[in-house]
Amino acid sequence: MSLEERLDQTKRPESEEKVQAFFSSVAKRYDIANSLMSFGTHYGWKRKAVAEVDPQPGDQCVDVCTGTNDVAVMLANKVGPEGHVTGVDWNQDMLDAGQFKIDKFGLSDRITNKRGDAEDLPLEDNTFNRATVAVASRHLNIDKHFQEMYRVLKPGGRAVCLDFFKPPNPVFAKLYDVYSYSMMPRIATLVTRDRTGVYDYLPDSIRVYYEPEAFAKEMRDAGFKNVKYYPISWGICYIFAGDK
Ligand SMILES: C[S@@+](CC[C@H](N)C(=O)[O-])C[C@H]1O[C@@H](n2cnc3c(N)ncnc32)[C@H](O)[C@@H]1O
Repeated sequence: MSLEERLDQTKRPESEEKVQAFFSSVAKRYDIANSLMSFGTHYGWKRKAVAEVDPQPGDQCVDVCTGTNDVAVMLANKVGPEGHVTGVDWNQDMLDAGQFKIDKFGLSDRITNKRGDAEDLPLEDNTFNRATVAVASRHLNIDKHFQEMYRVLKPGGRAVCLDFFKPPNPVFAKLYDVYSYSMMPRIATLVTRDRTGVYDYLPDSIRVYYEPEAFAKEMRDAGFKNVKYYPISWGICYIFAGDK
């Protein structure tokens, strides 16, 4: 398959079957692979996203595409014993790895995981003060996903999205390309023993993904107000925030 065909493929969300296979394949080693690929910085990115969504003690939060619950755990530490965090993901293997972490940190009273689709959340309207989604947008039809985040938030609630984009600086983007096409997939595939090719797909998808402004427009089109966005780590990632 030519590069153009591969790039064209990555513009669309993959089939559910493929995404489920990716994450079932890597679930047990997902956290360690993330730490190695990002040299540990993914925790800092997630902490920034949580600071931006600014959960208050007692808040009800939802972390969509929660995976192994990193962001859910950070939210739970902010909302305290009076608050609650619901994690939603459609992959049971990722949720099982997350549950292990929740139990380890003694947060099972504060975090509930639900299996469900980010484009059709199994949650009531107007329920949450805060909603987050981290490094999952490229698997989703973003319009439906943002509409669902908006629907489940209470009026006045806030949503934050963290994801990978193409770095704006052309010199840095070249270096990042070299890393993400050569080293990153090898490290991750070795560590996770993945056979689905998920880590080969990621760099192509970063290259052809939305421009940040077009992504912000999707958020506005879903109804969010005060939408803002900014790069972190030289634009490897961006944080988006909006209010209902
Ligand atoms: C790259 S992981 C990110 C996990 C976590 N948010 C993090 O920051 O580490 C993407 C997650 O999105 C989930 N996912 C992808 N498409 C989904 C969908 N339509 N509905 C629910 N979960 C989905 C996958 O199962 C996977 O756990």
